[in-house]
Amino acid sequence: MPISPLIRPLTSEDAKSFQHLRLHALKVAPENFGSSHEDEVDRNLDDIKKMLGARPNTVFGAFAEDDLVGMAGFATTTKTKQKHKGVLWGVFVHSDWRGHDLGRQLTLAVIEHARQYVDTLHATVMAANLPARKLYLGLGFEIFGFEKDALRIGGQSFDDELLRLDLR
Ligand SMILES: CC(C)(COP(=O)(O)OP(=O)(O)OC[C@H]1O[C@@H](n2cnc3c(N)ncnc32)[C@H](O)[C@@H]1OP(=O)(O)O)[C@@H](O)C(=O)NCCC(=O)NCCS
Repeated sequence: MPISPLIRPLTSEDAKSFQHLRLHALKVAPENFGSSHEDEVDRNLDDIKKMLGARPNTVFGAFAEDDLVGMAGFATTTKTKQKHKGVLWGVFVHSDWRGHDLGRQLTLAVIEHARQYVDTLHATVMAANLPARKLYLGLGFEIFGFEKDALRIGGQSFDDELLRLDLR
């Protein structure tokens, strides 16, 4: 049955909660993110505050009481020729909260937000990540590419699929 923790855009005041959940995600699901725990563990809190305060880039968070339990990010580029494209990134729901529609609600929040700024939304998903693939394909994303050996973790290779959602 769907439950409804509050879903809202994070602000710079959420920097600590964001960092905590993000580092947890990178630790427990490294194959699902391009960034690694080592890449971000020493990230300065001021940088995170700046990132969370910038718009139109936005990270949406799902809160259960005061705890951040899920998130999904939207990013744009400053490059003129690519301004029509945005990226969905960092989608994660804490394992205690999975299967309650939060991943879908967070991704939908990014999609609705993205509509105001870009024509297409891109995402990358590890090819063997069935829950995330099913989530994105169910929301209308289409696979347009395949990257063999996209990530290597401790000598193990992972393939990625490249997805795109037409927002027009
Ligand atoms: C992928 C993830 C965000 C899904 O979050 P969630 O809150 O459990 O997902 P929801 O409950 O909103 O489910 C939405 C849809 O996703 C798919 N899905 C979710 N969990 C699934 C599972 N275990 N197996 C198959 N499909 C699944 C289904 O299509 C589901 O819709 P349905 O219930 O109507 O069939 C979550 O599993 C997660 O954080 N995984 C680790 C990190 C990750 O893979 N992030 C994505 C990086 S690209």
